[in-house]
Amino acid sequence: MAEPYEPTGGENFDLRDVLLRGRKVGFHERMGLLSDWWSGRIRNRSIFVLRTATTMADREIQIEDPYTGDLKPMLMFGSNNYLGLTSHPYVLERVRKAVDEYGAGVGGPPLLNGYTKLHQELEARLSALKDKEDTVIFQSGYGANVGALGSLPTRNDAIFYDLYSHASFIDGLQMTRAVSYKFAHNDVDELARLLEAHGTRGSGDAFVGVEGVYSMDGDVAPLDEITRLCKQHGAILLLDDAHGTGVMGPNGRGTPHHFGVERDVDVVMSTFSKAFGVVGGAISTSKPIADYLRFCARSYMFSSSIPPATVAAVLAGLDLLEREEGLVQRLWDNVDYTGRCLREIGFDIHPQTPIIPLLVPQTMHMRKATYFFHQSGIFLNPVEYPAVPIDKQRFRISLMATHTREDIDRLVEVVAEAWRRFAFALDPKARTAA
Ligand SMILES: Cc1ncc(COP(=O)(O)O)c(C=O)c1O
Repeated sequence: MAEPYEPTGGENFDLRDVLLRGRKVGFHERMGLLSDWWSGRIRNRSIFVLRTATTMADREIQIEDPYTGDLKPMLMFGSNNYLGLTSHPYVLERVRKAVDEYGAGVGGPPLLNGYTKLHQELEARLSALKDKEDTVIFQSGYGANVGALGSLPTRNDAIFYDLYSHASFIDGLQMTRAVSYKFAHNDVDELARLLEAHGTRGSGDAFVGVEGVYSMDGDVAPLDEITRLCKQHGAILLLDDAHGTGVMGPNGRGTPHHFGVERDVDVVMSTFSKAFGVVGGAISTSKPIADYLRFCARSYMFSSSIPPATVAAVLAGLDLLEREEGLVQRLWDNVDYTGRCLREIGFDIHPQTPIIPLLVPQTMHMRKATYFFHQSGIFLNPVEYPAVPIDKQRFRISLMATHTREDIDRLVEVVAEAWRRFAFALDPKARTAA
């Protein structure tokens, strides 16, 4: 057993300085600055990224401790594998069968040689899940967003998007020639004012971009109001339902089904990297828009297809969503139970989804708390400044359907102890979630 260790560095507000300094120097010096910062954090044992797993992704995993080299069992509360499908026996069986039948990969993009019977079946199944005419499968959710934004709007159009949109949406905006305007998070009134102003200018189409479930705060977009506004202004609604698919609505059909507005969302993006536990993305939409994407979305056209085994895993996930009534419900039971337990220890938290942010009080030494979670066998992702503003730093709990009550009790016990030791905040109001 190696020596116990402690993080010795100061608080975590140094990355932004490193990045800003990097803007003023040449290429090699810029690379060195970040690399030195990274080595410094490894030296003072205050960084937990690239933790190497030595077992299957599951509710409990084993990792190789980055500092001691020991093999360490950890309860996983930092995964998007919401339904625990990565290790589900039925999923694994279908994956093995697909490998036997189709081999390891396809060796090309879908329009050329990367399209199998399985890919075709998945397009049809996802279209049915989303109540859309057609579905286009991309190599990732990132690629789906970038492909859609890079191809659908033209230079005459305008895109209105939520301030909290995911990086893949923001990067997609770099690929479009349309002008873009952000509105405050979930602020339907501001969106209405922007759409009104666009209407009076009268040129080009208006696109609106929102997420079903926001990945950092776990809150839900008011899709009933947003679809009403889009209809009223003739705007095209692009919905990123990465965290809603497999989680929200009956049988996990997604956030539009949760609100009963599936017919009013024009373009729905899903990823396979969250509830389906693998990798890949999809856009479900009308037949003309799907055809357009197949020929004009560069991330579709110029990138190889996802392997048949991955497609088979998603198909198996869809089977399970359809026939295992209790699967999604187990996740929601865990959401309710965790919310209740966190309230019992003083957090004012009412989770809307399996993503539960624990906002870190400014009095808390976040790196020490991060280390404490790691040492206590709780795998929890810290989200630090500058990824979020200083007053919005958080630990982000992600729940799975397969977590047991004992797992959640242990999580809550360690959270309470971390707050007692490192937050120095006795005022329960300091323990409020976003
Ligand atoms: C809201 C949102 N959109 C898109 C993506 C990208 O998905 P993928 O991992 O499939 O590239 C993510 C993943 O983090 C996400 O959270």
